[in-house]
Amino acid sequence: MRAAVLRISDLGAEGLAAVLELAEVPAPPVLAGAGAALVFERPSARTRNACELAVVQLGGHPVTIRDDEVGIDRRETAEDVARTLACYHALIAARVARHATLERMVAALSGRAVPVPVVNLLSDVEHPTQAVADLLTVRSELGAIAGRTIAYVGDANNVCRSLADACALTGAAMRVAAPDGYGLAEADVARNAHLAEQAGLGGRLSCTTRPEEAVEGADVVYTDVWVSMGDEADAARRRHDLAGFTVDERLLDRAAPGAILLHCLPAHRGEEVSAGALEGPRSRVWEQAANRLHAARAIFAYVLGARPGPGGVSS
Ligand code: CP
Ligand code: NVA
Repeated sequence: MRAAVLRISDLGAEGLAAVLELAEVPAPPVLAGAGAALVFERPSARTRNACELAVVQLGGHPVTIRDDEVGIDRRETAEDVARTLACYHALIAARVARHATLERMVAALSGRAVPVPVVNLLSDVEHPTQAVADLLTVRSELGAIAGRTIAYVGDANNVCRSLADACALTGAAMRVAAPDGYGLAEADVARNAHLAEQAGLGGRLSCTTRPEEAVEGADVVYTDVWVSMGDEADAARRRHDLAGFTVDERLLDRAAPGAILLHCLPAHRGEEVSAGALEGPRSRVWEQAANRLHAARAIFAYVLGARPGPGGVSS
């Protein structure tokens, strides 16, 4: 059992491979008779629905809790929220404004005789359950992940960070095209290189300010919103700075024949992606959204001790 998946790298290469396997086998009943707390400090369509169904498929009972109900660090501390939820639930998964909130929850639950794992359902730093769904989509649409090239165009945000590290752990190449000031930080690039080296699968990351350079010959073109949750006060400046980084059909034409377009959604047509690209034949965004369920189920099963094996799933 793992205490937490706050970053995709918490899984390691072996763990991520196990999660990708678990996504494709019948759900083990690791939550039979147990509850799972799903906490949302931010809005959600896909993640909430995928996670609730995933918990049901694992035999458990999901309780979705909005921030206005618990008031993390307003009504009571993040630590006390975590300790309270651990009285009733076998798993806590949370979408938070600040990544540190998740780390505080994990720290508050450390040392328990029966661990209650914590899973990140999106923070300002990472979106690991999304990255698993992204890899599942690449695999189901294109085949093996190792050796693929994924071009990410736009704001190098939480989604980009998790996807880049997921590529490092699975041997894919990730090219990030972002304007100055919106790229990955040096620490992200260093962590990614370390992960790729540890995994030893040939994954590599490159960064540019030119979308055409990133997309040339790529197997997958990926984008996400220019204004993430929490960035709203900065929206006008972001739209100005990111103009020119729209993924449209002309940009997609530079990708490899048979390339696909992914977007974690919600989408803003005319900003990070054109309507034509999003609704065109290369788009796989709805297959990707559907994979959120399989990704959530697999991660929850994994942190609760399920492992894929030749004779089926063990736990
Ligand atoms: N992609 C994603 O996380 O969607 P939601 O914000 O709707 O959950
Ligand atoms: N980067 C976006 C992803 C939404 C699923 C955000 O954080 O709002």
